[in-house]
Amino acid sequence: MGDSITLTDNRTGTTVTVPIEADDTIPSSALRQLDPNLRVYDPSFVSTASCASRITYVDGQQGVLRYRGYPIEQLAERSSYLEVAYLLIHGELPSAEELVTWRHEITVHTYVHENVKHFMQQFQYDAHPMGMLVSTVAALSTFYPEAKYIFDAEVRHKQIVRLIAKMPTLAAFAHRFSVGMPFVYPDNDLDYATNFLSMMWRVGVPAYEADPVLARALDVLFILHADHEQNCSTTAMRTVGSSHADPYSATAAAAAALYGPLHGGANEAVIRMLGRIASVEAVPAFLETVKRGEGRLMGFGHRVYKHYDPRASIVKQTADDVFAAVGTNPLLDVALALEEAALADDYFVERQLYPNVDFYSGLIYQAMGFPLEMFTVLFAIPRTAGWLAHWVELLGDREQRIARPRQRYTGAGERPYLPAGERGTGEAPDATLPPTAAAPAEARPRRL
Ligand code: CMC
Repeated sequence: MGDSITLTDNRTGTTVTVPIEADDTIPSSALRQLDPNLRVYDPSFVSTASCASRITYVDGQQGVLRYRGYPIEQLAERSSYLEVAYLLIHGELPSAEELVTWRHEITVHTYVHENVKHFMQQFQYDAHPMGMLVSTVAALSTFYPEAKYIFDAEVRHKQIVRLIAKMPTLAAFAHRFSVGMPFVYPDNDLDYATNFLSMMWRVGVPAYEADPVLARALDVLFILHADHEQNCSTTAMRTVGSSHADPYSATAAAAAALYGPLHGGANEAVIRMLGRIASVEAVPAFLETVKRGEGRLMGFGHRVYKHYDPRASIVKQTADDVFAAVGTNPLLDVALALEEAALADDYFVERQLYPNVDFYSGLIYQAMGFPLEMFTVLFAIPRTAGWLAHWVELLGDREQRIARPRQRYTGAGERPYLPAGERGTGEAPDATLPPTAAAPAEARPRRL
């Protein structure tokens, strides 16, 4: 029988044998052959491969990450973010000529319509920049209505260029708005990362001189964050894209998924956690609270990596360069002590919890002067290329249909509707909601 699995439906005695593919997958069609009504119950897709993809390879046991076959370590050392974005989307590294054209296309699309600026200026004064980014990316679909013609290759390419080009502009505008500074327009003489730094930090001078060490560090972080196969936000991109929505709407959905603290929000959560721990001496007591289930060790653990996240190693090296240029982050010692203690602790060892990409990236962003609220935005900028690569792949995949999982219904059986006066008064607590700590008072501003 070789590498195969045989399933027997003991109700009927029907047997189906299917091959186990080289990548350890079996087709779900085997179940349909047994009984078309059978479903796999797989909450959160822990054992489900939802698509075939040629973009990114992750081996979680060995700590391997490759984009289109190229090891992340080589790309981080030798490539640039725009070159990697091209690789992800087109499948091959660009020739010298293609790279020049690609850079030019991105550079001349960095400006946004003035009404996009006005739109952003209407947010509440203390709006979170990630919320602004999600909303403004969605709003771009109203500026480019032709984007809905997703099967027109030229239209598709134009929106891809626009999204990659405008993300840093929107991100910097969101920051400038939150600190009450005038928006700085793109400077098309600058490279991608330096242009973003210029839009973030330039104050009343004709040109912005970026420290090349910081610009390179940012570009490396962009490379590391550019794609990571079927994570939560990429799955959101593919799910929304599968309904043939335009790429701005799909990218906004992906960015919204990234916003959560279990995904792209983790880098912000790490710094808040390190700030609360505050000292090396407080690390053991903090780890005990994690082990008692009173919160997670943010920046640790991963659904796929059961080993050191290869991105985390590169981020750690990049941190050294940045700290040498701008001085160290006082929270670094706490982070190092936390990592050492966790890696020696049975709780984390048994669960194979290692630092992930977010454990050290926030420390770099903070040392570079980015406010905490910008950290997830800094993740969204480069991940846009990955989301778009998956969107293009999805559209060309003949096996893909609209994403539409099934469910196990566990609710009430049929019951008659009663007028309000005849219903019981006792509240039916929803047993599925976990107990959560009350939000702090400062998180609930008094508003109309
Ligand atoms: N701290 C403490 N315990 C943890 C952690 C953690 N960070 N992560 C997982 N565990 C425990 C979890 O409680 C469970 O224990 P038990 O078996 O006793 O119930 C076990 O490890 C397995 O965890 P899980 O929740 O089933 O794992 P998952 O694959 O569903 O979650 C994760 C993956 C990344 C959401 C989770 O590890 C986590 O919450 N980490 C902290 C947040 C974080 O750093 N996220 C960034 C991820 S990397 C970048 C990105 O994706 O954006």
